Amino acid sequence: MNPIPHFKERALTIEKRKKEFLNIAEKTGTPLYLYDKAEVQNNYRAFTSAFKKAGTDIQVFYAVKSNFYPGLLKTLVEEGGNLDVSSDRELRLALKAGAKKIIYTGPAKTEKDFELILDNYKKITVNLESERELELLAKMAAKRKIVARCGVRIVTAMQAGWTKFGIPIEKLADFFRKAQKYPSLNFCGIHFHISFNHSPEKYVRTLSELAHYLFSNFTKEERDKFEYLDIGGGYYPEHFMARYSWNPDQTTNLPPETLDRVFEDKFESRIVPICTDPIEVFAAQISSTLKTKIRPLIPNAEFYAEPGRFISHSSMHFLLRLMDIKEGRIGITDGGTNLVGWELFQFYYYAPIFNLSQFSVTREIPFVTYGSLCTPEDLWGYYLYTAGKPKEGDVLLIPYQGAYTYALCQTFIKEIAPVYDLDQN
Ligand SMILES: Cc1ncc(COP(=O)(O)O)c(C=O)c1O
Repeated sequence: MNPIPHFKERALTIEKRKKEFLNIAEKTGTPLYLYDKAEVQNNYRAFTSAFKKAGTDIQVFYAVKSNFYPGLLKTLVEEGGNLDVSSDRELRLALKAGAKKIIYTGPAKTEKDFELILDNYKKITVNLESERELELLAKMAAKRKIVARCGVRIVTAMQAGWTKFGIPIEKLADFFRKAQKYPSLNFCGIHFHISFNHSPEKYVRTLSELAHYLFSNFTKEERDKFEYLDIGGGYYPEHFMARYSWNPDQTTNLPPETLDRVFEDKFESRIVPICTDPIEVFAAQISSTLKTKIRPLIPNAEFYAEPGRFISHSSMHFLLRLMDIKEGRIGITDGGTNLVGWELFQFYYYAPIFNLSQFSVTREIPFVTYGSLCTPEDLWGYYLYTAGKPKEGDVLLIPYQGAYTYALCQTFIKEIAPVYDLDQN
């Protein structure tokens, strides 16, 4: 059995919906992104309820960058979620989705960015990235005679390699004191972000370092001014993905014999699962650190989080059709990997591909599925779940792949496929 966590139950869910997907392929055509609202609802509820059970009320600001599909943003808002945006483009989408509260994060904000932010200042909290941003926002808000709500992004030892962002934690107290001098700013927050966490360890260590810094460098009166602590995104979900055992380092320089070895099924274990703590473990440890170390120091602060991938990872499925079969072991689909924007499945991750026309959850054969772009660097996967020999015209599904795929799609050679909302009927 496939070692991906919860493989069987999720594959059986796909089997139950096989007819629905095949009908969509017939009626609407392929390639398509299928948007799955129920997945987004489940992921949002799992995240918020894990923190609630752990005793922390955390406000979710979904990171729009992970999947900006307007239907997904609408679902989040309907669920009571807020949105985290990083550009004026994303801000417009968030406003259109009806978000009541928005966080604006991201480097090198321009005067134009701040104009749109200030047009909507009652809904927006700005996470600043530099002294230049602080001064510019203060000046522009003063000109409009309004007060802009903001905080600053900090970088600690846990954000190694992310030094282009924010300010070093050692500069937080000076930054805070400078910001307090501007009557046009309500400077009241601290933000950090750490990507790709398979366990809560880095959150706990960042929070502990922050607590130590706040205790040593701020007076109580100063600390009482903090209204929010935003602990960013980076909570890795139990993704419907794995790594190839024969490419653990995710090299783009595969030895030329790799394909032959795949076809001969020479690799003993084809894939290696990605192990991630369940969200309950993240919530329990983060919550406990917030309660014991942070809450006593900044008692007026609310807690915010910006999960992206965790919410969107299963929000979309790709529906494709096999157009050509070559030598019985290579298939070319009508959709290219411009749908995901890069060589995600060629070199980096394995995702199960199901032949909906000949469904099986147990029989996975070596079979290379390419896309239709005019380049060999256009590959969906090296294995295929199929009950029989794949045939031209068969419909394929790559399920649960919504994070940083649709958001990275490109008009390279082909048009970007339309999105079909599964909730529309
Ligand atoms: C500031 C910020 N918040 C949230 C996220 C979302 O991260 P993830 O999708 O890993 O949860 C990112 C991603 O890079 C980010 O830069």
